[in-house]
Amino acid sequence: MATAKSGGARHVAVVGAGLIGRAWAIVFARAGAEVALYDASKPALDAALKAIGGSLKDLVRAGLLKNAAAVLKRIRATQDLRDAVAGAEYVQENTPEKVEQKRAIFAELDRLAPPGAILASSTSTIQPSRFTEPLAGRARCLVAHPANPPHLIPIVELCGAPWTAPATVARARSIMEAAGMTPIAVRKEIEAFILNRLQMALLNEACRLIDAGYVTAGDLDKTLKDGLALRWVIMGPMETIDLNAPGGTADYFARYGALIRALDRDMRGQPDWSQELVGRLDAERRRAVPLKKHGAAQIWRDRRLMALLAHKREAARRIRPA
Ligand SMILES: NC(=O)c1ccc[n+]([C@@H]2O[C@H](COP(=O)([O-])OP(=O)(O)OC[C@H]3O[C@@H](n4cnc5c(N)ncnc54)[C@H](O)[C@@H]3O)[C@@H](O)[C@H]2O)c1
Repeated sequence: MATAKSGGARHVAVVGAGLIGRAWAIVFARAGAEVALYDASKPALDAALKAIGGSLKDLVRAGLLKNAAAVLKRIRATQDLRDAVAGAEYVQENTPEKVEQKRAIFAELDRLAPPGAILASSTSTIQPSRFTEPLAGRARCLVAHPANPPHLIPIVELCGAPWTAPATVARARSIMEAAGMTPIAVRKEIEAFILNRLQMALLNEACRLIDAGYVTAGDLDKTLKDGLALRWVIMGPMETIDLNAPGGTADYFARYGALIRALDRDMRGQPDWSQELVGRLDAERRRAVPLKKHGAAQIWRDRRLMALLAHKREAARRIRPA
């Protein structure tokens, strides 16, 4: 018997059980939904269930979840897409990031899912109009793009195509909020949406600076970890600049606006960092984390994120905003 939170979905199908799909399964099952987790590959499903079990135990240890067994019980694995979507109110698609593959799976989903079900894609970069246009049910399709992993990072970007019904976006928003996510609206289609455009702007500039010898990769990471990101855990860049000048945002731009515009011109254009740099960066990371320890490093990252989430929750309760 499903016990989904008010406004939430009671039956969810998660399509594709890789890194993102398995984390979505936790999100919806944790919120009380019955989740069918579908993947074309049996080993992928087995690996997903194992990883989900481990994550749930870690969530309990971090004080973020009470009953891991009850959540796990609500997730069932299947290799049959028709079976996965039967009775689903909401479908979250997580297959590989290739537009042809998204077109094929969305055609299948539109054919098999109940008429009222919302069909959402986790795609990181592909605009929904590129894979939903010919579908009879295109009004019920949208992108719901998470950060990795969605069971620990609540942001989700909702982006419709021009033909997505406003009611689809509204319902997806309500389902996400009931599942403890933080939905934002991408109000017009744009490649890579908002989060990845910000992330890629930073990554492009980081690669340029390292490639041109201004900084090492290690020191660049410290600049974020012990610098910018400390503030970003509690406030975004727009809130940050408002507090970084005595007279607020207008004062900030009066002081630094000319510099910001000049730097923007300096940073524009095609990235000029080299393939040789990619090899060097990868070699440096492999010395720090050999590939055989990659999975363990992901678990370590998730545990640190859980500790941070627990702290944020507790601090938000104790320290009121100014
Ligand atoms: N990894 C990230 O950081 C991240 C973050 C946000 C969004 N996304 C998006 O999520 C989606 C999935 O990414 P991922 O990182 O989980 O990839 P992944 O490679 O870990 O998982 C993809 C899964 O899809 C399965 N699959 C492949 N073809 C299939 C099919 N036809 N039917 C059913 N299952 C199929 C594979 O077996 C695999 O388990 C992509 O669109 C990606 O852009 C990824």
